[in-house]
Amino acid sequence: MNNTSLHARHRAVLPDWLALYYADPIELTHGEGRHVWDADGKKYLDFFGGILTTMTAHALPEVTKAVAEQASRIIHSSTLYLNRPMVELAERVAQLSGIPDARVFFTTSGTEANDTALLLATAYRRSNQILAMRNSYHGRSFAAVGITGNQGWSPTSLSPLQTLYVHGGVRGRGPYAHLSDAEFTEACVADLRDMLGQTRGDVAALIAEPIQGVGGFTSPPDGLYARFREVLREHGILWISDEVQTGWGRTGDHFWGWQAHGRSGPPDILTFAKGIGNGMSIGGVVARADVMNTLDANSISTFGGSPVTMAAGLANLSYLLEHDLQGNARRVGGLLIERLRAIAATTPVVREVRGRGLMIGVELDDPTRTVAGAVLEACREAGLLIGKGGGHDTSVLRIAPPLSLTVAEAEEGAAILEGALRDVS
Ligand SMILES: Cc1ncc(COP(=O)(O)O)c(C=O)c1O
Repeated sequence: MNNTSLHARHRAVLPDWLALYYADPIELTHGEGRHVWDADGKKYLDFFGGILTTMTAHALPEVTKAVAEQASRIIHSSTLYLNRPMVELAERVAQLSGIPDARVFFTTSGTEANDTALLLATAYRRSNQILAMRNSYHGRSFAAVGITGNQGWSPTSLSPLQTLYVHGGVRGRGPYAHLSDAEFTEACVADLRDMLGQTRGDVAALIAEPIQGVGGFTSPPDGLYARFREVLREHGILWISDEVQTGWGRTGDHFWGWQAHGRSGPPDILTFAKGIGNGMSIGGVVARADVMNTLDANSISTFGGSPVTMAAGLANLSYLLEHDLQGNARRVGGLLIERLRAIAATTPVVREVRGRGLMIGVELDDPTRTVAGAVLEACREAGLLIGKGGGHDTSVLRIAPPLSLTVAEAEEGAAILEGALRDVS
């Protein structure tokens, strides 16, 4: 294998905690559309898009052209100078966010976007208390791991924040799993009220992923965050929607994940990253002007909003909207979920197929925590890349292809996954 020595070199020089997929990890050298190739020339159908980041397609000519043209003019200027692509992308994101009088700040990652949201909320509310969801993931910085309920991704209990973890993000497990949707929601609301009643001080914000990504594509019943919002409003607590995985139409039914809870209107703060840059590093925060402008010291971002990434984001977003990839995610994702549910019905190792659009989780019956890895290996062997996730007691296969996935590709991937599940069963 070409990559043996590269793997050894990786291990020798990079941190042990930088997780790699597969016993014999893959070096991806190029991609096109929904396919990627490894250094040995093997072709794979890509159902994970570099962790939900290749949003439209690999090597999309429109994005490549925008990057090349911008790079040939100027690659970097910093936020100290006017930047036309940054203003244009901010205008489009502000308008799409649904947040009134929105301001946008660009970062280079989802972590940094959430960090900024926490800075804004804690400064605005003059409190370091944050509500986060159990089983959540919000990034890798010191502040972000302090609001990450998913223990496997939160390496320290030290934190600049005081975090209170709330029930609700995981529908199918935990003390309320047996309840109906309506009862589940009311139990979580009662839990939230109870917690707030026992908390000294003013909580700054609730941060939540509308569908938990790393946690295994789990979500509450639609409307739960709208009910939470009513309680939060009674206390002046802000709602931060982490749309790093759920944004840009991936869920098919909605452009943003929060819209499944839309009854109470948009969040106070929305964070995004991943798909908008199609692999170029763009993250960002959208907030009401009074929240965004609460900081009274200067700030800059050397790399956030760089002209090349903004040009890529504009081209990528235009392609997404002009080709109605949200609609495609709804249609093709709907077919794929149906197909996977049919497979699950005759495959005992599958506990549940869930999700929305092209964000599909296949939870496994995996008490030894070895089955998911074996399915990943079998899929890889047969030419399909998928992801995995879950919490401390769950193993979940994660399926999140580029949103331009065709029906034929969905069918091909489902057939490979079916074979892999049968192999390991
Ligand atoms: C919901 C969510 N928030 C934040 C992040 C952090 O984003 P990044 O890896 O770009 O820092 C991730 C990454 O997977 C995520 O899934």
